Amino acid sequence: MPIVNRVADLQPDIQAWRRVIHENPELLYDVHRTAAFVADRLREFGCDEVATGLGRTGVVGVIKGKQQPGKGEIKVIGLRADMDALPIEEQTNLPHASKISGKMHACGHDGHTAMLLGAARYLAETRNFAGDAVVIFQPAEEGGAGAAAMIQDGLMDRFGIEQVYGMHNGPGIPVGCFAIRPGPVMAATDSIDIKIEGLGGHAARPNKCIDSVLVGSQLITALQSIVSRTIDPLESAVVSICEFHAGNARNVIPHTAELRGTVRTLTPEVRETVEKRVHEVCEGVAKMTGAKIDLTYERGYPVTKNHAEQTDFATQVAKEVAGAQNVHEMPPLMGAEDFSYMLEARPGAFIFCGNGDSAGLHHPAYDFNDEAIVYGTSYWIKLVENRLAAS
Ligand code: NI
Repeated sequence: MPIVNRVADLQPDIQAWRRVIHENPELLYDVHRTAAFVADRLREFGCDEVATGLGRTGVVGVIKGKQQPGKGEIKVIGLRADMDALPIEEQTNLPHASKISGKMHACGHDGHTAMLLGAARYLAETRNFAGDAVVIFQPAEEGGAGAAAMIQDGLMDRFGIEQVYGMHNGPGIPVGCFAIRPGPVMAATDSIDIKIEGLGGHAARPNKCIDSVLVGSQLITALQSIVSRTIDPLESAVVSICEFHAGNARNVIPHTAELRGTVRTLTPEVRETVEKRVHEVCEGVAKMTGAKIDLTYERGYPVTKNHAEQTDFATQVAKEVAGAQNVHEMPPLMGAEDFSYMLEARPGAFIFCGNGDSAGLHHPAYDFNDEAIVYGTSYWIKLVENRLAAS
């Protein structure tokens, strides 16, 4: 069976919600308006419970199926969408473009929220399942670890969630197609902040100075040897130093310099190794140059790791919605996702839903593709109806 027929009827409403959310983007935990919109809709649909304020501004809706689950069957699954936007100036010139300068839904979280609302409406109408479907709307996916905040607020235990599923739109994946893989699907992301203190002075007397620019350059080069010379070539890791700040005159050797960058890895072992090597490289370059090097290495989101059984199951559901030929196994991405915290707390799977030939995520010309709504929404519905199958 392809997309759920009723979803085609609901599409105009879901699209309208999506565009309202798109016009009013909010950042990180400050998603009050979006969260209120979501909570209002969930109450309208007749959810059995609507909880707000989890992880500060997260919203949860509980929809009970017509039947009780049998003994030993899965009783409760969680479906998660994210609500936050990005600090980007939108350049789409669309009628529903952001009304708020400097903020935009450039990652499609507007679409994720609207599709999960659509599924909630359908599930509350039909209730053709046994057990509880818990719809989760989180704040602060974009760097604020909103998923972790909701878990700390008791998300999993309070609602008895046994398995959890997530979805992201995928630019470059045709509309009507899905992509998924078992195991690591998105990277862990860590941040590197380096402060170099050399000895400033006259550009013509370098022998009296410790040149913080040269120290920074040596650091960058040495850091690049970590991936190429300590990580197994069959494993994946990225070390990117993306900021280098130093100096403000052509004839002054600057006293200090600062570097900032990011580390991406797909396994805990590689993550451990890269972190250790970054420390060692900093210590080594400090010794070699006589500069003082202060490293702050901070761990961010963990690896988003799909669980095998739930990934198989999600793949079957996607095939049912989109056709077997339209569901593909994908390579892992080196971007990061805070759904990783939910997959550390409970088994589950994260899937990509085709957004067609749109601009890339986090690009000022990006827009969520409303043509994808029927596929994403049908996936959520079928996921609930198959996993919590009524007898
Ligand atoms: Ni995103």
